[in-house]
Amino acid sequence: MAHRVGSLCEDLYPPSKSFSEKAFVSSMEEYSEMYAKSIREPATFWRPTAEILGIKSTSEEKDFVSWNFNPQKGPIHVEWLKGAQANMCYSALDLNIQRGLGDNVAFYWEGNEPEDDSVMTYKQLFVEVCKFANVLKKHGVKKGDRVAIYMPMVPSLVVAMLACTRIGAPHSIVFGGFSSGSLKDRIIDSSCSILITADGVYRGTKCVALKDICDQVDEVCEPEWVDCEDTLFLLYTSGSTGKPKGVLHTTGGYMMTAYSTFKYVFDYHPGDIYWCTADIGWITGHTYVTYGPLLNGATSVLFEGVPTYPDGGRFWAVVDKYKVTQLYTAPTAIRLLMKMGDSIVKRYSRKSLKVLGTVGEPINPEAWMWYHHVVGDSGCPIVDTFWQTETGGHVITPLPGATVAKPGSATFPFFGVVPVILDENGRELNGECEGYLCFSQPWPGIMRTVFGDHERFETTYFKKFPGYYTTGDGARRDTDGYIWVTGRIDDMLNVSGHLLSTAEVESCLVEEQSVAESAVVSRPHPVKGECLYCFVTPMDGVAFTDALVAALKERIREKIGPFACPDFIQYAPVLPKTRSGKIMRRVLRKIAAGETNLGDVSTLADQSSVESLMRHRLD
Ligand code: WTA
Repeated sequence: MAHRVGSLCEDLYPPSKSFSEKAFVSSMEEYSEMYAKSIREPATFWRPTAEILGIKSTSEEKDFVSWNFNPQKGPIHVEWLKGAQANMCYSALDLNIQRGLGDNVAFYWEGNEPEDDSVMTYKQLFVEVCKFANVLKKHGVKKGDRVAIYMPMVPSLVVAMLACTRIGAPHSIVFGGFSSGSLKDRIIDSSCSILITADGVYRGTKCVALKDICDQVDEVCEPEWVDCEDTLFLLYTSGSTGKPKGVLHTTGGYMMTAYSTFKYVFDYHPGDIYWCTADIGWITGHTYVTYGPLLNGATSVLFEGVPTYPDGGRFWAVVDKYKVTQLYTAPTAIRLLMKMGDSIVKRYSRKSLKVLGTVGEPINPEAWMWYHHVVGDSGCPIVDTFWQTETGGHVITPLPGATVAKPGSATFPFFGVVPVILDENGRELNGECEGYLCFSQPWPGIMRTVFGDHERFETTYFKKFPGYYTTGDGARRDTDGYIWVTGRIDDMLNVSGHLLSTAEVESCLVEEQSVAESAVVSRPHPVKGECLYCFVTPMDGVAFTDALVAALKERIREKIGPFACPDFIQYAPVLPKTRSGKIMRRVLRKIAAGETNLGDVSTLADQSSVESLMRHRLD
């Protein structure tokens, strides 16, 4: 997805003086100083964070950080604070309670129905977590055992996550919108010993899905200390080969990244009410619904519903109900609400808002402006946070009190992160440039491996450009040094902020008996950002009917999940291929987008294939 370059993008939005004065980082000078230190002396920079988080030094402790990003020099590895000990749950709950925050609200739960809500303080959360940790122990779960979780957005989900971390059992959460087939694949790949799920009956009757089984249980459960490099969780993300990858994060480094990005990027201060609308089943929910806020002792809103129920004013109603100060959501939600018009937004006060955040895909400048001017009444800094499941937390992002924003740019690196833009030959580009977005050194929260497949980790992220972590995204640097992420440059697509691989959808389509071949590309979509456009060649003698299209959509819903359902499935008598048999996706993307100029098609084996595809194209 290319960015429009024009007057819109060149507008500058500095934070207001009154905001900057109270912010943790108040100017670009201050940011630059801290940033330089974080790169020059990572240990000095991060040690105070480790101390705040209660990470315990031991005699086993090795280097503060040790790493290799070059497969030619040996196995890829990253270690932060190896040998030191930590416990996520202890840092998130025990420490905050010891510091006097026990009666503070951890979560205001807002159910799907506006009148369905509940409150959970740090102390209450602590008790629930200890009880449930004991339930897990009673079921034989031990330190190091992997636990699958498949639950809706209820406080019990947070309880389940924290209970796992309390006993040192890595969790593997599967987003509730995934199908049972996807759940099965992930459980098998991660060899989880137990699955925590919610009884459908409890849904909508407040936050008590796990409560009954916990009621009889012991409220005391000592935290299990683990090595900082022990696994905290696995989270599956789409891979370009079609098989999802179990991204593995470890304890100490992830904690430091979650804590510090939350603090600085949202500029969270005591008394603020923070709300991230993401589902916990995605990385955004892991880091910015559960761990980042809790490590900071923050008060958050946990929302079960959707932006349009009972009407398109729900977000703003929730903002007013809880006096939300920081709102963190996705461009796709912003565009959806923007389409509904300004008047519905203006029905609500929104006066509490201080910082507005976005994540998931490049935000188009129009949506940025609307978010800023209409939602934030032109008074709130916007933080356009670029990151990935793999990065654990924000890597390129504005700091709200320091950065002069440009609509559509994720701006500058977070502390400890060194972005580089490489050309096809792996040369670092300087000044104004466009190329592959990579990172040349590790920050604490970067993933450590692909679960059960270290080779795939090396191949996916380090092989193309030895010495660098490759994001798979393209980026442009402008004359002022701002970074503009332009979107995926591999075979991945981003539907409403959810990454999918074309291969994953294609293999699902060809599993249908009557399908001979398929090719899936992305097509720009006004709300979702991108949507799936599928070309399907039926087996000889099979008719391409509405029933077939419906069956294919149903199959994708069942195999992957409803969010992956294609918007378009087009009949393709034959797919355009090169003489060596490679499908020319570039041509298919143009057909899908409704373009008439298909560019150079001279390498096509069969020129007529394109004409028939053009005839059958859908709008
Ligand atoms: C995209 C989500 C531009 C990008 C946290 C990345 C973005 C992928 C932004 C990761 C942003 C996320 N600007 N692109 N602010 N945020 N992306 O793993 O393509 O679900 O590689 O993590 O989303 O998606 P994932």
